[in-house]
Amino acid sequence: MKAACALICLALAQGISGSIFKQQGRIVDDLDIQPLEYIDQQQRQQWNQRQLTLQNQQNRDWSQSQELREQPVVGVAQYQHAYRNMPTQDSQEQRFVYRRPIYWHNHHHQKTHRHSNSGSSQESKEIRYNVNQEATLQDESQMWNPVLQNTVMNQDTPNVQAFGDAIIWSGIQMAAGPNAPVQNEKDIEKIFGDARNAMTHIKETDKTKFHEVFEIARQENNEDALLNATQLAQKYQYPIEEHTITTDDGYILTVFRMPPKKLVRDVQKRPVVFLMHGVLGSADDWLLMGPGKSLAYMLSDAGYDVWLGNARGNKYSRRHVSKSPAVWDFWQFSNDEIALHDLPAMIDYALEISQQEKLYYIGHSQGTTAFFALTATRPEYNNKIIMMYALSPMVYMSNVRSPLFRMIAPTSQFQQRLKTQFGYGAFTPSKELIHTIGGVLCESEIGCKKVCSNLNFVMAGVNVDGMDANMLPIVMRHLPAGTSTKVIRQYGQGVASQEFRRFDYGAEMNQQAYGTLEPPKYDMTMVQAPVTLYYSTEDWLAHPQDVMRLQKELPNVTEAYKVPVDHFSNMDFQFSTKAPEVVYTRIIESMKNIH
Ligand SMILES: *[C@@H]1O[C@H](CO)[C@@H](O)[C@H](O)[C@H]1NC(C)=O
Ligand SMILES: *[C@@H]1O[C@H](CO)[C@@H](O)[C@H](O)[C@H]1NC(C)=O
Repeated sequence: MKAACALICLALAQGISGSIFKQQGRIVDDLDIQPLEYIDQQQRQQWNQRQLTLQNQQNRDWSQSQELREQPVVGVAQYQHAYRNMPTQDSQEQRFVYRRPIYWHNHHHQKTHRHSNSGSSQESKEIRYNVNQEATLQDESQMWNPVLQNTVMNQDTPNVQAFGDAIIWSGIQMAAGPNAPVQNEKDIEKIFGDARNAMTHIKETDKTKFHEVFEIARQENNEDALLNATQLAQKYQYPIEEHTITTDDGYILTVFRMPPKKLVRDVQKRPVVFLMHGVLGSADDWLLMGPGKSLAYMLSDAGYDVWLGNARGNKYSRRHVSKSPAVWDFWQFSNDEIALHDLPAMIDYALEISQQEKLYYIGHSQGTTAFFALTATRPEYNNKIIMMYALSPMVYMSNVRSPLFRMIAPTSQFQQRLKTQFGYGAFTPSKELIHTIGGVLCESEIGCKKVCSNLNFVMAGVNVDGMDANMLPIVMRHLPAGTSTKVIRQYGQGVASQEFRRFDYGAEMNQQAYGTLEPPKYDMTMVQAPVTLYYSTEDWLAHPQDVMRLQKELPNVTEAYKVPVDHFSNMDFQFSTKAPEVVYTRIIESMKNIH
C-alpha cells in the first residue's frame, strides 16, 4: 500500500506540478512527510486485507469496463456494473457511488500520462493502473455535484503545453496562460499575498540558524517524538486513562483523561475541562511541549480533571464498528458529523464518568468549529458548558489567509484540479501538492524544507518567533494527525459562501439531505453558552474580521481577547513558547473565577 501510494502520489503530483505549477524538474524527495496512517496492529491487518481484496476487484472491474471507459458520460445506469463489487454502503450512499463518472478518471489520467511523457517521466507508464485504483478508492469528488461534474466532462483538460510560461511572484513559480489557473503575478498574489504578509520575514542568517538548530534536534531523536499521549503523560508522571467511546453512527473514538494530580482534601470532585484539538490535530497537541508548557499539564497541575478529545479520522479515532479506514466510505464526514456525533458523545461521556453536570470547554481551531455547530444545533448542550474558551475560532472563513483554503474554495480557479487531486477520502495531499499549496511560500520565508513539508505548518503558517526549533521535530512527528478531505473542503466552502453552513453537496443532493437547495446555516444566536474568544491579528486561519463577526452574532461573549504578540499564528496557540504566558495562564486564572 505504501509503495503504491508513493508511486500514485508521484503520478498525481506530476499531473499537478506540470499543469499548474510548472515544476516538473524539482526534486522533492528530500521532503519529510509524515504518514497519516496511525493504526494498531489488528487494524493494520484488516486494512491490508481489505486493500488487497479491493484492488483485485478493481483490477477485474477495470479490465471488464474497457469499452465503457472510452465513452463520454451520458447517463448513470450504464456505469453501474463497474461498481458491483464495491463495498456495500447504505442505500442512499450507494446511489451516489453509482453516479460516479468513470470515464472522467480515465480520461484525466490519459492526459496526465501524455504530459508526463513530454515532461520526461519514465515512471508514469507502469503505474497507470495504480492511478485508476486510487481514483476509484478515493476520488468521490465528482459524484456529489452534477453541475461541476458536467463542467469537468465537457471541458477538455488542457495538457501542459497549453499552459504557458512560468511567472514568479515572491519566489512562487507558476505556469501562466490562457488555460492555466493563473494569468499573471496578481493571481498568485491573490492566493499567497495575505499569508505572506502575515509572516515574519526573517534574515538569511536567521534562516540558516533556525535550520541548523532544527537539524541538530532532528538528529538527536528526542524520544517524545515517538510517544503517544498515554506514554507522554506517563513519562512525565501524570496519571492518564484511555477511554473508548462509540458514537451513535458507529465511529470509535479514543478520549484521554488526566485525572486530577493534585488532590485537594476539601473538594471531592474536581471540575472537568474538555480540550478539543484543531484541524489535522489530535490530543497530543495539548501535551507535546511538556509539563509547564503544554496546556493539559498546566490544567492538571491546577487541579482540573482534564479530558482530551479526538475527532473521528485522526490517528486515535480511526476505527468504526463496520467501516474500514482503508475505504473511502469511512471518510464520508465533515465538521457536521464531528460536531453532531463526536462532540456530544465525548462531552456526555466525560460528564457521566466524572459525575459532573457541566464542564469547561477549550477548543482550538476545528475544536471551536465543532463546538459552535453543536451548540447552535442542539441548545441543550449550552447548559453543559461552564465556559467555552475558543482559541483561534474558525467559524467564518471569508478572510482566511491560508492558501490551502483559498485554493480549495469552490470559487477558486484551482478548485477543480485540487478536488480531483484530493479526492474524497482521507486528506492526504502528496509531497508536491503540499509544496505547491504553501510549502514553497514557507520555504522562501523560513528556508527550512523539512518544516515546510509538514501539512499543518503549510496549512496554518509558521511563526518562527515563538517557535523553539528544538521542539519542532517532536511536533512534526505527531502532526498531521489526519482528517477527511470533506472537512477541508467544508472550510473551503465557507470561504466562498462567507457563511457558516452545513456541508454543501450541490443543489440536488442538498435538496435531499436538507430539503433546501442551499445548505442550512448554523445560527450563532442560538449559542447561549458563555464564550471567551482568543484570537491574534495575523492568524492564517482565524482572521480578526471573521472573529469580530462571530463575536457580534454570539449572544454571550464574555470577552474577545487579542493575543498581544506579533505574528502569533494558529499553531502558536499550541506550540509557541509564549503560549503559556500569554494564553494558558490567563485561561486558568479566568477558570478559577467562574464556576
Ligand atoms: C500508546 O502506546 C502504548 C505502548 O505502545 C500502547 O499500549 C497504547 O495502547 C497506546 N495508546 C493508544 C491510544 O494508542
Ligand atoms: C450567558 O451564560 C450564562 C451562564 O451560563 C447564562 O446564565 C446566561 O443566561 C447566558 N446569557 C445569554 C444571553 O444567553
